[in-house]
Amino acid sequence: MKKRIIAGNWKMYKTSSEAKDLVHGILNGMKEMNLPADREVLVFPPVIHVKEVHEMAKGSKLSVGVQNMYFEAEGAFTGEVSPKMVKDAGAKYILIGHSERRHIFKESDELLNKKVKAAYDNDLIPMLCIGELLEEYEAGKTNEVCKKQLVEGLKDITADQAKKLTVAYEPVWAIGTGKVATPEIAESVQKYVRSVLADMFGQDIADLIPILYGGSAKPDNAAGLLSQPNVDGLLIGGACLKADSFLAIAKL
Ligand code: 13P
Repeated sequence: MKKRIIAGNWKMYKTSSEAKDLVHGILNGMKEMNLPADREVLVFPPVIHVKEVHEMAKGSKLSVGVQNMYFEAEGAFTGEVSPKMVKDAGAKYILIGHSERRHIFKESDELLNKKVKAAYDNDLIPMLCIGELLEEYEAGKTNEVCKKQLVEGLKDITADQAKKLTVAYEPVWAIGTGKVATPEIAESVQKYVRSVLADMFGQDIADLIPILYGGSAKPDNAAGLLSQPNVDGLLIGGACLKADSFLAIAKL
Protein backbone atom coordinates (compact mmCIF):
# COMPACT_ATOMS: atom_id res chain seq x y z
CA MET A 1 0.00 0.00 0.00
CA LYS A 2 1.40 3.40 -0.97
CA LYS A 3 1.39 5.81 1.94
CA ARG A 4 0.35 9.44 2.09
CA ILE A 5 3.16 11.21 3.92
CA ILE A 6 2.66 14.60 5.51
CA ALA A 7 6.11 15.80 6.50
CA GLY A 8 7.27 18.96 8.24
CA ASN A 9 10.77 20.27 7.58
CA TRP A 10 11.55 22.57 10.48
CA LYS A 11 14.75 23.80 8.80
CA MET A 12 16.81 25.91 11.25
CA TYR A 13 13.95 26.89 13.53
CA LYS A 14 13.05 26.12 17.16
CA THR A 15 15.02 26.10 20.39
CA SER A 16 14.71 23.06 22.61
CA SER A 17 11.72 24.38 24.56
CA GLU A 18 10.00 25.58 21.39
CA ALA A 19 10.57 22.16 19.84
CA LYS A 20 8.97 20.48 22.86
CA ASP A 21 5.95 22.79 22.68
CA LEU A 22 5.48 22.07 18.99
CA VAL A 23 5.76 18.31 19.43
CA HIS A 24 3.32 18.40 22.38
CA GLY A 25 0.89 20.29 20.19
CA ILE A 26 1.27 17.82 17.31
CA LEU A 27 0.95 14.76 19.55
CA ASN A 28 -2.10 16.12 21.36
CA GLY A 29 -3.75 16.98 18.07
CA MET A 30 -2.95 13.58 16.58
CA LYS A 31 -4.56 11.82 19.57
CA GLU A 32 -7.84 13.49 18.74
CA MET A 33 -7.65 12.60 15.07
CA ASN A 34 -8.59 9.36 13.53
CA LEU A 35 -5.78 9.22 11.01
CA PRO A 36 -6.31 6.75 8.17
CA ALA A 37 -4.03 3.68 8.19
CA ASP A 38 -2.20 4.82 5.07
CA ARG A 39 -1.22 8.19 6.63
CA GLU A 40 2.28 8.88 7.94
CA VAL A 41 2.97 12.09 9.85
CA LEU A 42 6.63 12.93 9.95
CA VAL A 43 8.82 15.73 11.30
CA PHE A 44 12.37 16.72 10.43
CA PRO A 45 13.57 18.81 13.42
CA PRO A 46 17.08 20.29 13.60
CA VAL A 47 19.44 17.41 14.37
CA ILE A 48 20.09 18.64 17.92
CA HIS A 49 16.44 17.97 18.85
CA VAL A 50 15.96 14.65 17.08
CA LYS A 51 16.63 12.34 20.01
CA GLU A 52 14.31 14.28 22.26
CA VAL A 53 11.54 14.41 19.66
CA HIS A 54 11.97 10.69 19.09
CA GLU A 55 11.60 10.04 22.85
CA MET A 56 8.49 12.21 23.00
CA ALA A 57 6.97 10.52 19.97
CA LYS A 58 7.46 6.95 21.24
CA GLY A 59 4.19 5.04 21.22
CA SER A 60 2.57 7.59 18.91
CA LYS A 61 2.16 7.57 15.15
CA LEU A 62 4.56 10.46 14.66
CA SER A 63 7.78 9.57 12.80
CA VAL A 64 11.03 11.48 12.98
CA GLY A 65 13.73 12.19 10.43
CA VAL A 66 16.96 14.16 10.15
CA GLN A 67 17.48 16.99 7.65
CA ASN A 68 21.01 16.10 6.58
CA MET A 69 23.98 13.84 7.33
CA TYR A 70 27.41 13.03 5.95
CA PHE A 71 27.97 9.73 4.15
CA GLU A 72 31.14 8.52 5.89
CA ALA A 73 30.79 6.09 8.82
CA GLU A 74 33.02 8.15 11.12
CA GLY A 75 36.16 10.26 11.10
CA ALA A 76 37.59 13.75 11.19
CA PHE A 77 34.66 15.60 9.60
CA THR A 78 34.09 18.54 11.94
CA GLY A 79 30.50 19.63 12.19
CA GLU A 80 29.00 16.60 10.49
CA VAL A 81 26.88 13.72 11.78
CA SER A 82 27.17 10.13 10.57
CA PRO A 83 24.39 7.85 9.32
CA LYS A 84 24.90 5.65 12.38
CA MET A 85 24.42 8.63 14.72
CA VAL A 86 21.26 9.59 12.86
CA LYS A 87 19.90 6.06 13.24
CA ASP A 88 20.98 5.91 16.88
CA ALA A 89 19.09 9.16 17.64
CA GLY A 90 15.87 7.45 16.54
CA ALA A 91 15.46 8.77 13.01
CA LYS A 92 13.50 6.69 10.54
CA TYR A 93 13.91 9.04 7.56
CA ILE A 94 16.77 11.11 6.22
CA LEU A 95 16.20 14.12 3.97
CA ILE A 96 18.77 14.16 1.18
CA GLY A 97 19.43 16.95 -1.30
CA HIS A 98 17.02 19.59 -0.07
CA SER A 99 17.34 22.58 -2.37
CA GLU A 100 18.92 24.57 0.46
CA ARG A 101 21.64 21.88 0.70
CA ARG A 102 22.09 21.89 -3.07
CA HIS A 103 22.15 25.65 -3.58
CA ILE A 104 23.45 27.19 -0.35
CA PHE A 105 25.85 24.40 0.61
CA LYS A 106 26.68 23.40 -2.99
CA GLU A 107 26.00 19.69 -2.55
CA SER A 108 26.43 17.83 -5.84
CA ASP A 109 24.41 14.94 -7.23
CA GLU A 110 27.51 12.79 -6.78
CA LEU A 111 27.71 13.60 -3.06
CA LEU A 112 23.96 13.11 -2.65
CA ASN A 113 24.23 9.69 -4.27
CA LYS A 114 26.78 8.71 -1.59
CA LYS A 115 24.34 9.88 1.06
CA VAL A 116 21.49 7.85 -0.46
CA LYS A 117 23.70 4.74 -0.40
CA ALA A 118 24.72 5.46 3.19
CA ALA A 119 21.04 5.77 4.13
CA TYR A 120 20.31 2.29 2.78
CA ASP A 121 23.42 0.86 4.45
CA ASN A 122 22.12 2.15 7.78
CA ASP A 123 18.47 1.20 7.43
CA LEU A 124 17.28 4.79 7.04
CA ILE A 125 14.58 5.73 4.53
CA PRO A 126 15.95 8.32 2.12
CA MET A 127 13.71 11.18 1.04
CA LEU A 128 15.50 12.50 -2.01
CA CYS A 129 14.57 16.09 -2.84
CA ILE A 130 14.66 17.29 -6.41
CA GLY A 131 13.50 20.43 -8.16
CA GLU A 132 14.37 23.16 -10.61
CA LEU A 133 15.41 26.79 -10.16
CA LEU A 134 13.19 29.63 -11.39
CA GLU A 135 15.33 30.21 -14.49
CA GLU A 136 15.21 26.50 -15.32
CA TYR A 137 11.43 26.53 -14.90
CA GLU A 138 11.12 29.56 -17.16
CA ALA A 139 13.39 27.92 -19.76
CA GLY A 140 11.14 24.83 -19.81
CA LYS A 141 13.88 22.64 -18.31
CA THR A 142 11.95 21.27 -15.33
CA ASN A 143 11.73 17.67 -16.50
CA GLU A 144 15.32 17.61 -17.69
CA VAL A 145 16.61 18.92 -14.32
CA CYS A 146 14.47 16.50 -12.30
CA LYS A 147 15.57 13.55 -14.43
CA LYS A 148 19.26 14.37 -14.00
CA GLN A 149 18.84 14.74 -10.22
CA LEU A 150 17.05 11.38 -10.05
CA VAL A 151 19.39 9.46 -12.36
CA GLU A 152 22.55 10.79 -10.69
CA GLY A 153 21.24 10.81 -7.14
CA LEU A 154 19.99 7.22 -7.43
CA LYS A 155 22.94 5.82 -9.40
CA ASP A 156 23.59 2.14 -8.55
CA ILE A 157 20.51 1.89 -6.34
CA THR A 158 18.83 -1.49 -6.83
CA ALA A 159 15.14 -2.06 -7.52
CA ASP A 160 14.90 -3.78 -4.16
CA GLN A 161 16.33 -0.73 -2.39
CA ALA A 162 14.02 1.55 -4.37
CA LYS A 163 11.04 -0.13 -2.71
CA LYS A 164 11.94 1.95 0.36
CA LEU A 165 12.63 5.18 -1.49
CA THR A 166 10.67 8.39 -1.04
CA VAL A 167 11.03 11.43 -3.30
CA ALA A 168 10.05 15.06 -2.76
CA TYR A 169 9.58 17.39 -5.73
CA GLU A 170 10.24 20.91 -4.53
CA PRO A 171 10.45 23.57 -7.24
CA VAL A 172 12.97 26.05 -5.86
CA TRP A 173 10.86 29.01 -7.03
CA ALA A 174 8.02 27.85 -4.77
CA ILE A 175 10.05 27.35 -1.58
CA GLY A 176 9.41 30.01 1.03
CA THR A 177 8.08 32.39 -1.62
CA GLY A 178 4.34 31.92 -1.17
CA LYS A 179 4.24 31.03 -4.90
CA VAL A 180 2.84 27.51 -4.76
CA ALA A 181 2.88 25.35 -7.89
CA THR A 182 -0.65 24.78 -9.14
CA PRO A 183 -1.98 21.25 -8.62
CA GLU A 184 -1.71 20.80 -12.41
CA ILE A 185 1.98 21.77 -12.48
CA ALA A 186 2.78 19.52 -9.51
CA GLU A 187 0.87 16.63 -11.10
CA SER A 188 2.51 17.04 -14.49
CA VAL A 189 6.05 17.05 -13.04
CA GLN A 190 5.36 14.27 -10.55
CA LYS A 191 3.81 12.08 -13.23
CA TYR A 192 6.99 12.56 -15.22
CA VAL A 193 9.11 11.81 -12.12
CA ARG A 194 7.22 8.54 -11.69
CA SER A 195 7.88 7.65 -15.33
CA VAL A 196 11.63 8.20 -14.79
CA LEU A 197 11.47 6.00 -11.68
CA ALA A 198 9.61 3.37 -13.75
CA ASP A 199 12.37 3.42 -16.36
CA MET A 200 14.94 2.94 -13.61
CA PHE A 201 13.21 0.40 -11.36
CA GLY A 202 10.14 -0.92 -13.20
CA GLN A 203 6.55 0.33 -13.10
CA ASP A 204 5.46 -1.82 -10.12
CA ILE A 205 8.15 -0.37 -7.89
CA ALA A 206 7.68 3.18 -9.21
CA ASP A 207 3.99 2.91 -8.32
CA LEU A 208 4.94 2.18 -4.70
CA ILE A 209 7.29 5.14 -4.24
CA PRO A 210 5.64 8.06 -2.42
CA ILE A 211 6.32 11.29 -4.32
CA LEU A 212 5.71 14.37 -2.17
CA TYR A 213 5.28 17.95 -3.30
CA GLY A 214 6.93 20.80 -1.39
CA GLY A 215 6.94 24.58 -1.82
CA SER A 216 4.55 26.98 -0.05
CA ALA A 217 2.12 24.18 0.81
CA LYS A 218 -0.44 25.58 3.30
CA PRO A 219 -3.77 24.50 4.79
CA ASP A 220 -5.65 26.42 2.11
CA ASN A 221 -3.91 24.89 -0.91
CA ALA A 222 -3.03 21.40 0.41
CA ALA A 223 -6.29 19.67 -0.53
CA GLY A 224 -5.98 20.71 -4.17
CA LEU A 225 -2.42 19.43 -4.37
CA LEU A 226 -3.25 16.16 -2.59
CA SER A 227 -6.18 15.52 -4.95
CA GLN A 228 -3.72 14.83 -7.75
CA PRO A 229 -2.99 11.16 -8.49
CA ASN A 230 0.80 11.56 -8.37
CA VAL A 231 0.95 13.80 -5.31
CA ASP A 232 1.37 11.29 -2.50
CA GLY A 233 2.08 13.74 0.27
CA LEU A 234 3.51 17.12 1.13
CA LEU A 235 6.82 18.34 2.48
CA ILE A 236 5.96 21.48 4.39
CA GLY A 237 8.24 24.29 5.54
CA GLY A 238 6.66 27.45 6.99
CA ALA A 239 3.25 25.92 7.71
CA CYS A 240 4.74 23.07 9.78
CA LEU A 241 6.13 25.39 12.46
CA LYS A 242 2.76 25.70 14.18
CA ALA A 243 0.89 22.59 15.31
CA ASP A 244 -2.47 23.93 14.11
CA SER A 245 -1.50 24.53 10.51
CA PHE A 246 0.57 21.33 10.30
CA LEU A 247 -2.27 19.23 11.70
CA ALA A 248 -4.83 20.93 9.47
CA ILE A 249 -2.89 19.48 6.53
CA ALA A 250 -2.09 16.13 8.16
CA LYS A 251 -5.75 15.33 8.71
CA LEU A 252 -6.89 16.03 5.13
P1 13P B 1 7.90 26.26 2.46
O1 13P B 1 6.70 25.38 2.73
O2 13P B 1 8.20 27.22 3.55
O3 13P B 1 7.83 26.87 1.10
O4 13P B 1 9.19 25.26 2.44
C1 13P B 1 9.13 24.12 1.66
C2 13P B 1 10.33 23.29 1.94
O5 13P B 1 11.44 23.64 1.60
C3 13P B 1 10.13 22.04 2.68
O6 13P B 1 11.27 21.25 2.65
